Parts: sequence; C-alpha cells; structure tokens
Amino acid sequence: LGEGPLKGRHVVVTSGPTHEPIDPVRYIANRSSGAQGAAIAAALRDLGARVSFVTGPASVPPPGGVGVVRVETAREMLEAVEAALPADAAVFAAAVADWRVANAAGSKMKKDGSGRAPALEFAENPDILATVARMGAGRPALVVGFAAETDDVVAHAATKRARKGCDWIVANDVSAATGIMGGAENAVTLITAEGAEEWPRLPKDEVARRLAARIARALCAG
Ligand code: C5P
Repeated sequence: LGEGPLKGRHVVVTSGPTHEPIDPVRYIANRSSGAQGAAIAAALRDLGARVSFVTGPASVPPPGGVGVVRVETAREMLEAVEAALPADAAVFAAAVADWRVANAAGSKMKKDGSGRAPALEFAENPDILATVARMGAGRPALVVGFAAETDDVVAHAATKRARKGCDWIVANDVSAATGIMGGAENAVTLITAEGAEEWPRLPKDEVARRLAARIARALCAG
C-alpha cells in the first residue's frame, strides 16, 4: 500500500453500468464506460488509500493496485458494497440501472409463432448511494454521489444531495452538446453543504485527481 495523505484509509468506489437480465442471454444496460469511476479509484490509490472497486461490466479495465469486485446487477452491487464496508469514504460513480426486469425468464425466451411480443415488467432497484448515506452506525464519514443532469444542473443536484442524504454530489451536464458522456473530459460542479463549486472543463483523470485531493482534505480535517 502506498504512502500519501490517504494512507491507512479505506475508500469504496462503485463504477460502470449494471446489467439487468431479461433472460439468461439478454440484459438491459446503459452506456456508462466506467472511465470516471476507474480514474477516481486510481487517484485515491495514488494518494495511498486502500480502494475497494466495485464495478459493473465496464468497457474500460479496472486500475491496478485496487481490490476489484466484479458484479452484474444493482442488487449484486449493493451486496458487494455492504460486504466491503466499513470504509472512511464511499464514492458512487456507477450508473446503476433504476429498474430491473421483474419477470426475467429462467430460460431463453423464444418466439412462439403467435407474433405477440413479450411484455417486460419492471421493479425498482435499491438505491445504493441512498442506502449507504442513510446507514446509521457504520456509515462512511464521507459519502459522495454523482448526478448526471441535462438542465438546471446545480438545482437538481442540490435536491438530489438532500434526497439521498449524501455529503457531496459531483454534478455534470450530460446534454448531448457537451460531448461529456462517453468522452474524455468532464465539467463538474461539486455540491457540498457549503454550496456549489464550479470546476473548469478538465480531462476525467484530472477531475479524479482533484476529487481525490478534496476527499483527502475532508478526511484529514475530520
Ligand atoms: O438518482 P440518480 O440515478 O441520478 O443518482 C445518481 C447517483 O446515485 C450516482 O452516484 C449513482 O451511483 C447513485 N445510484 C445508486 N444506486 C441506484 C441509483 C443511483 O447508487 N440504484
């Protein structure tokens, strides 16, 4: 384990999309690459933290030097996060599917020749961020969530911070025109109890380094 301001600290990071099965060979997913989460885990590692990296099926590989737990579904992700606790901080960068298929089939769904399409029913997934942020005993001292918004970014993110009970929200504007989703850069606003702090548009690695440095400052001050 490294030297640095986070030496001896444990941080849990979630990353990537989740896959929610429809049947054994099909699933519902989203376009998250896992790039920002992987960069955050690497930056925390570089400051000396022990990192538990709980990742859905991402398209970028996990960084080296972190403890990797691979999961598929939101429910598996929650279980893995709970198993990784206690932690000093938790950063929830995963793009968790809000819904899973409630009537997923145990065997591959087949056309039955009737021309009728199957009807999928959905059930709400657990909110991992809110679950951890609202834990009593054992809650990490610092719980950080993300908010991808397309309009009124700061107002929506501040509302989300209150609703989920987390300490910080890293908000970004993912409107198509920003090119941020799937791109190499990010422009974020950090929402804390003290207010909103707009960061310049930066490479995702640099956003990760700044966030890790802020986390180190917060943990070392507290
Ligand atoms: O509500 P929304 O999905 O916009 O919230 C985003 C934040 O909540 C992210 O930090 C995401 O990782 C987290 N989240 C979660 N579990 C869910 C949904 C979102 O941890 N089921």
